[in-house]
Amino acid sequence: MSLYFTLRAGKSQTNSSLFYFSAFYAIIVSIMAKVICITNQKGGVGKTTTAVNLSYYLAKDKHKTLLVDFDPQGNATSGLGIEKTDSDKLGHTMTEVILGTATMQEAIHPTKYKHFDLTPTTPELANAEVEITSQPRKFTRLRDAIRSVEANYDYVIIDLPPSLSLLTVNGMIASNYLLLPVQTEFYALEGVAQLLESMKLVMKQANPNLQLLGVLATMYDKRTSLSAQVYAEIKKYFKQLTFNTAIPRNVRVAEAPSHGVPVGAYDKFSKGAKAYKEFTKEVEERTK
Ligand SMILES: Nc1ncnc2c1ncn2[C@@H]1O[C@H](COP(=O)(O)OP(=O)(O)OP(=O)(O)O)[C@@H](O)[C@H]1O
Ligand SMILES: [Mg+2]
Repeated sequence: MSLYFTLRAGKSQTNSSLFYFSAFYAIIVSIMAKVICITNQKGGVGKTTTAVNLSYYLAKDKHKTLLVDFDPQGNATSGLGIEKTDSDKLGHTMTEVILGTATMQEAIHPTKYKHFDLTPTTPELANAEVEITSQPRKFTRLRDAIRSVEANYDYVIIDLPPSLSLLTVNGMIASNYLLLPVQTEFYALEGVAQLLESMKLVMKQANPNLQLLGVLATMYDKRTSLSAQVYAEIKKYFKQLTFNTAIPRNVRVAEAPSHGVPVGAYDKFSKGAKAYKEFTKEVEERTK
């Protein structure tokens, strides 16, 4: 019976219909993962580091998490100890998923950590991007791939390349949330206005549900006044959208990928690991 007829039929029926509707809605929402893309077209600002460590701590909090490496550089893949040039060991990858020669399910690899899966990539993802440019559904391939597996996850985290490319647009269209890491250095906010414009365009044309989850200050160095100044500028501009946790510049964070592990597994007592753990709590709170 449609909700319209139920509403006409009387209050008590309306109440029970609303109850069933709410229950149904709750079920639908609970089978949909929260999809977060991590983007900034500026290079080296901590996108991949954030993607790997956020995924690690979400999984540690027992959230079933899938990290999608969607950058041809494959840093999330190698940062988790998976050799991206060894195609025998690698199995199926995001490159094939985007070309339509493998399913998303086939590309899923478990990591060493419970509740934490990865879909790796190869450098050929860059060629695949060019190839799909002239093909149908070029903007929605990642969204459709994620939809096919999202019922198995609480969170899907997408690591994007340092560009406003077709891959990045695919990432934005596939997501509910956009997370913007900003390095606390000179020129930090350069390009951010352009990124927000692209986000607005995606919202208008393809994905009205996309929202800015927040802005994360990275590589914060408390010894320099520049870091403090830039952080203050970020807060002034983004206000409460700025995460309270700033990720400090920390050598353990930089060392961890060369051991193929997240910093929390490398040195959980380091300042960097503690900051990523705190930041993950904020993400959980904001996506409740
Ligand atoms: N908090 C930190 N402290 C020290 N080094 C860091 C920190 N965060 C990231 N790094 C280092 O800075 C470099 C860039 O980080 P990362 O690869 O995460 O950036 P990115 O934005 O993903 O780069 P790209 O744009 O190339 O994809 C890496 O060598 C990384 O190990
Ligand atoms: Mg990266």
